[in-house]
Amino acid sequence: MEVGREAQYDVFAEQFLDHARDGFYNAHLDRPACLDLLGDVAGLRVLDAACGPGLYAEELVTRGAAVVGVDISPRMVELSRRRVPGGEFRVHDLAEPLVWLPDASVDRVLFALAVEYVDDRVALLRELRRVLRPDGALVLSRQHPFGNWLRHGGNYFEPRVVEEVWSRGWRVRYWLSPLERTCEELRAAGFLVERLVEPRPSPEAATLDPERFERLSREPTGFLAVRAVPDPR
Ligand SMILES: C[S@@+](CC[C@H](N)C(=O)[O-])C[C@H]1O[C@@H](n2cnc3c(N)ncnc32)[C@H](O)[C@@H]1O
Repeated sequence: MEVGREAQYDVFAEQFLDHARDGFYNAHLDRPACLDLLGDVAGLRVLDAACGPGLYAEELVTRGAAVVGVDISPRMVELSRRRVPGGEFRVHDLAEPLVWLPDASVDRVLFALAVEYVDDRVALLRELRRVLRPDGALVLSRQHPFGNWLRHGGNYFEPRVVEEVWSRGWRVRYWLSPLERTCEELRAAGFLVERLVEPRPSPEAATLDPERFERLSREPTGFLAVRAVPDPR
């Protein structure tokens, strides 16, 4: 089974925005980690691949970046346009090449919490490397593979597609794959992993949800994030 080309998030795009804007996992685990790995973006051109409703784009523009965002979901792109009038957004399936972006035309690529939805990840990562300047960097985050395995069991080392209904009733199909596979896909696409982080909740999240804060401070059940650079060799 593959994930396929359906814009799965389109039907619950507004709900996702509502969930991700201030929610524990996105606002206090994933976004602080990826923004930290991106570093200072002032004056840089950033490709936000799978931009969702524009929460990252909003922050990046506030920090002085020029943002080009793409998402397969037309409703997500509409939400991004509304949220970040200064950004440039397109409906685009990342299974297709970014033909409208020249080689070496962006300084950073952010690919947050979406690699799970792509079937040919090496082809996509190669394309992200093509549009990235040689001195640029890719920041990618994904569900933590250990947390996935604890939840789904089965053979940790065998990538496979699962279908789930999340707590808000969202039906999602996505890839489970071991940490080794993500590292190997990055290598095959011409990247060197510079940093790998396993984000713990930001301190202010302790009062938001003490139980979740305590659990995610000790369990690898959230996300992981990497910063990778084009391999010059
Ligand atoms: C969990 S959301 C993450 C959104 C955003 N990156 C964030 O972290 O706020 C996953 C996003 O990936 C998008 N997506 C999934 N498959 C895609 C594809 N093949 N091409 C482009 N976007 C895709 C979905 O539409 C959705 O907006």
